[in-house]
Amino acid sequence: MQSKHFLTIEHLDQKTLIALLNQAQTFSETEKTCDRLQHKVVTNLFFETSTRTRFSFELAAKRLGATVLNFDPKTSSTQKGETLLDTVKTVTAMGVHILVIRHEENHLAATLAQSLDDVSIINAGDGTHEHPTQALLDMLTIRQHKPNFSQLKVAIMGDIRHSRVAHSAIHALHCLGVPDIRVIAPDLLMPQDPNKLRVRTFTQPEQGLQDVDVVMTLRLQKERMQAAHIPDGANYFQHYGLTSERLRFAKPDAIVMHPGPMNRDVEIASSVADGPQSVILQQVRNGVAARMAVMAWCLDT
Ligand code: CP
Repeated sequence: MQSKHFLTIEHLDQKTLIALLNQAQTFSETEKTCDRLQHKVVTNLFFETSTRTRFSFELAAKRLGATVLNFDPKTSSTQKGETLLDTVKTVTAMGVHILVIRHEENHLAATLAQSLDDVSIINAGDGTHEHPTQALLDMLTIRQHKPNFSQLKVAIMGDIRHSRVAHSAIHALHCLGVPDIRVIAPDLLMPQDPNKLRVRTFTQPEQGLQDVDVVMTLRLQKERMQAAHIPDGANYFQHYGLTSERLRFAKPDAIVMHPGPMNRDVEIASSVADGPQSVILQQVRNGVAARMAVMAWCLDT
């Protein structure tokens, strides 16, 4: 039987996305361990830094009863010239059932999925392309506060151009029928093809935030920018930071989200990040349940 992979949100159908959200919701309510992945091996291959995603995959796999191997590129044979594909084939040959991979190269997870048999690949973030499990936990968090996606106005604010989180979130919001998706950013950080993404663009936060139900803030992805294009943090905060004053343009019950890692007083004021409308830590909690759902789906357990 062909392995099931979780590589993008763009290619996921609504029925599957909703089924994953339902399963994640159930896991989030019980938070108990189970044996659905007993005798299965999950390997985390993170070639880029991570706190939330790596730990939540590990915790999710353990809650499902799997054995977990964590790969450290700094101490692996990739340092001795082994190709990534050979490293991955070596790891897989030991009897791994799920490979969770984060890498700076767009589409790397999909390329590996074409080259490997008998293992499910989960994309934990590929370059600027997609971060599909982040979108799943984001949609779960939105649904817990605002269940009627067909009525929502959502603004994504910050460095959209370099953000795999934004790209996956936009696909997921479309898939769930959100009619009004806005991106707010300076010109240099706008997506390259907003028409293709079917979003409305705003360079003025006060306009883009008007009457929205959900505000997703994003950090400046400096590691993906040319040095000359990196905005000054204080200047960026002055014009694009989500402050309490700016948040007042959104609906009074709007929720504030951030995928992390968060740069306080650059893209978001501390008072907002820690304020009553923030659901940022709820997103983190939902990350474990969302990743449990994805792993169980990949192995049909
Ligand atoms: N949101 C997210 O991917 O966070 P990490 O980089 O800490 O995994």
